[in-house]
Amino acid sequence: MKAFLVERYGDKDGPRAGDVPEPKVGREDVLIRIRAASINPLDRMIRDGEMKAILPYRVPFVLGNDLAGVVVEVGAAVTRFSVGDEVYARPDKDRIGTFAELIAVRQDDVALKPGALTMEEAASLPLVALTSWQALVERAGVQPGQKVLIHAGSGGLGTIAVQLAKHLGAHVAATTSTANLDLVKSLGADVVVDYKKQAFETVLHDYDVVLDALGGETLKNSLQVLKPGGKVVSVAGPPDAAFGREIGANPVIRLVMSALSFRIRRRARRHNVTYSFLFMKASGNQLRELTHLIDTGRIRPVVDTVFPFESTREALAYVEAGRAKAGKVVVKMT
Ligand SMILES: NC(=O)c1ccc[n+]([C@@H]2O[C@H](COP(=O)([O-])OP(=O)(O)OC[C@H]3O[C@@H](n4cnc5c(N)ncnc54)[C@H](OP(=O)(O)O)[C@@H]3O)[C@@H](O)[C@H]2O)c1
Repeated sequence: MKAFLVERYGDKDGPRAGDVPEPKVGREDVLIRIRAASINPLDRMIRDGEMKAILPYRVPFVLGNDLAGVVVEVGAAVTRFSVGDEVYARPDKDRIGTFAELIAVRQDDVALKPGALTMEEAASLPLVALTSWQALVERAGVQPGQKVLIHAGSGGLGTIAVQLAKHLGAHVAATTSTANLDLVKSLGADVVVDYKKQAFETVLHDYDVVLDALGGETLKNSLQVLKPGGKVVSVAGPPDAAFGREIGANPVIRLVMSALSFRIRRRARRHNVTYSFLFMKASGNQLRELTHLIDTGRIRPVVDTVFPFESTREALAYVEAGRAKAGKVVVKMT
């Protein structure tokens, strides 16, 4: 089958088109004919070897972390899905490879596609929607009436996180650039801060939760907008020891992670708030919860551009160059 492969870490011209054997279907797996896949910043980071300590894929491997498609075969122990089902998924981190014609995914990581969405819209959602859920529902436990700040509200993650925070009953603030102010408002943000014109930490106060997708100075300044007891959940800041434990990292790696996040954790303690790092996980159950919110119109996808599958490399380059105006970039099987 045709696929886009990382043959060498750090190959800026990758992933390269190639032919690979069709996947083997395990007892718990569904084989999915991919109709659309979406691009995530994670794809570039994997290609460039930036995630090797956490995700040690052996080259060559097929890239891609999000999909929508049709089930074409089921393993002997599969109970949830049948041939012909339209599904979407973020495959487990150890079994990526959605820039391909076919993929075998564990049934536990798959959900039926929201009925009203196109394949391209559905493919734009799993990774960012699951991240939003795991940050806001699981990790931060956002309650109605709480104040939540979402950074990068126009990004793939931000566009979904703003809508989910709003659905949870929060008062939502988001940061974005001038061109995307109206879009982010239309997604439900109560306050939108134009980061090109204003420093968010000077206008936002007493927040309960910050979802940080930028790290660096933005993460540091986010501590100031939290009230005592507040939480910053970062998907872009330094990993912490809890994350190391979660992924079963050895004690040395856990120590390194603890050291990397030492400064921000100490700073957080001084502000009487907590810092935690999140790396999202595949989950069919959570995806089903999200499907319900999509089917009932609480969450809608935001798709910037659709490229043909053959142009997967160009789609990655488009995202890497920051050319997407808002939301997600998708590749579609032709
Ligand atoms: N750890 C995890 O599990 C996990 C999961 C998902 C994502 N992530 C990470 O989260 C980050 C965002 O992901 P994404 O998919 O949303 O990326 P994306 O679609 O490329 O969006 C990034 C957005 O950041 C905005 N931005 C840039 N500088 C900003 C600033 N100073 N203040 C506010 N917004 C700013 C840009 O919007 P404007 O046009 O408005 O400037 C852009 O749309 C990436 O680093 C990704 O790797 C991590």
